[in-house]
Amino acid sequence: MKVSMAVQSRKSVRGFLPTPVPPEVIRDVLEQAARAPSGGNLQPWHLHVVGGEPLERLKATMRERIAGMPGGEGSEYDIYPRELVSPYRERRFQVGEDLYRCLGIPRENKPARMAQFANCTVDRRMGPPQWSDLGMYLQTVMLLLCEHGLDSCAQECWAIYPETISGFLAIPPERMLFTGMAIGYEDTEAPVNQLRATRAPLAEFAEFIGI
Ligand SMILES: Cc1cc2nc3c(=O)[nH]c(=O)nc-3n(C[C@H](O)[C@H](O)[C@H](O)COP(=O)(O)O)c2cc1C
Repeated sequence: MKVSMAVQSRKSVRGFLPTPVPPEVIRDVLEQAARAPSGGNLQPWHLHVVGGEPLERLKATMRERIAGMPGGEGSEYDIYPRELVSPYRERRFQVGEDLYRCLGIPRENKPARMAQFANCTVDRRMGPPQWSDLGMYLQTVMLLLCEHGLDSCAQECWAIYPETISGFLAIPPERMLFTGMAIGYEDTEAPVNQLRATRAPLAEFAEFIGI
């Protein structure tokens, strides 16, 4: 698969088939993705990979937690800036609208939206440059998964339940949960997977000087 094909075909998949993912593929992808660059080669990513029976237990724990505390426990970092200015505000709104249109959930139906709310950690001593390194690692993982016919969705929503997740995964206190990522085979029949998120045109985000 060409890199450009992986970049084009990758999308966030939110509905999966029950087909199990071969563990050796996951190991291989996570190892290869560590070729991602990082400032000073710090390689600040740390992963907790959960599957099989422990994943079923984690999902059951989370379902219960979400039902009892739909607003979350409070995330340890701001998932979005407190004041989301233009054009970011509109972009976020747009993808939300498009997603819930795919699901046939009207905007006013907040509880149904929350039902959509259902793990990469970083050392707390790391700063914004190292957090950006995590992003490079995670995108490399997602592209390599494409090559294996696998799908994924990064899930920051896990970060609003840091206590439960950290407890379950025994994350040491010096590390902070950044994001989860679901990995599996796309259920192509799931309406939620019909979403093709839009992108701003090049002229909106790039300026060219001398070229
Ligand atoms: C760090 C990160 C966290 C994300 N968290 C969530 C999430 O919690 N829930 C969700 O449905 N999508 C989540 N997404 C997916 C984004 O909504 C998605 O990448 C964006 O809308 C663009 O769509 P695409 O990935 O299909 O191209 C996340 C993406 C990233 C990169």
